[in-house]
Amino acid sequence: MLIRRKRGWELPEAAATPEAVFVQRRALVQAMGLGALLAPLAIDAAQAAEDKATADPSAGLYPFKRNPRYTLDRPITDPKYAENYNNFYEFGSEKDIAEQAQALKIRPWTVKIDGMVEKPFEIGIDDLLKKMPLEERLYRHRCVEAWSMAVPWSGFAMAALVALAKPLGSAKYVRTQTFLDSAVAPGQQQFWYPWPYIEGVTMAEATNELAFMVTGMYGKPVPKQDGAPLRLALPWKYGFKSAKSIVRLSFIEQRPATFWETVQGDEYGFWANVNPAVPHPRWSQATERVLGSDERVPTLIWNGYGEYVAHLYDGMTGEKLFM
Ligand code: MTE
Repeated sequence: MLIRRKRGWELPEAAATPEAVFVQRRALVQAMGLGALLAPLAIDAAQAAEDKATADPSAGLYPFKRNPRYTLDRPITDPKYAENYNNFYEFGSEKDIAEQAQALKIRPWTVKIDGMVEKPFEIGIDDLLKKMPLEERLYRHRCVEAWSMAVPWSGFAMAALVALAKPLGSAKYVRTQTFLDSAVAPGQQQFWYPWPYIEGVTMAEATNELAFMVTGMYGKPVPKQDGAPLRLALPWKYGFKSAKSIVRLSFIEQRPATFWETVQGDEYGFWANVNPAVPHPRWSQATERVLGSDERVPTLIWNGYGEYVAHLYDGMTGEKLFM
């Protein structure tokens, strides 16, 4: 039985706390923490030692060379917003989860490739980075909640990972799965959600040139709260299609049951392509609030990426492509 709990998404977007308030609140909390400021320097040394021990071994690879093919029609979002106003339900249903997410251990991190592939395998994230064509891309990101940002993501084309996986001809979908560890991620103790977070795309979507596996952001490894060490970016779809902290990609024949579609299928469908003309049942999708500004700008169909992806959906008249 599904027990309904109030979720962030159930607020009309306009009623949600603007990200600037979160950022200020965090700054305040941090400043208060500085009250301990005069705590012995030994604490700094201990912290430095711990930082070193947990440092991301891929950090030296960044920044990746920017691919000039993908350009923006708006300024890049200030990282303080992109890194402090997050959706990551594993760590809570609020936007202010960055601190909680630091509990996630991102090394060792193994990604499993299985299902309909020539030979299932597991690969460590640092070995994967060595095999993939690394690049940076500027993409717009549009959340179903009607806010948006523009981010320099680092990573590699999902098509390159598909090629590495060697799927069989019978594979029709790629299912992406987030880690499962309720000791680290308290949101996963909320039994009314169907953990782990599952999303999925068709093979044609996975191999579309826009589908991008993200390992970094703003020229450095992607922060934990944004989905370290491996997440997706599917810029023509609402953000919930882009699973964070992925541990498994499965090549399958049946359309996967995805997290939000399972929770509330009449609001968050499988396809979730961006379309300003199709309102969410509880709010308009016509415009979006640009993170870090008070500006609302018109939302574009396919989030502006129609030239790359609209053809993927030709003839799919019976499907709810835009919710
Ligand atoms: N992936 C997991 N595992 N858990 C989540 O709650 N939220 C999604 C998506 N991926 C989510 C997730 C949603 S709704 C959005 S908008 C983006 O992550 C947010 O990414 P950001 O926090 O980096 O902006």
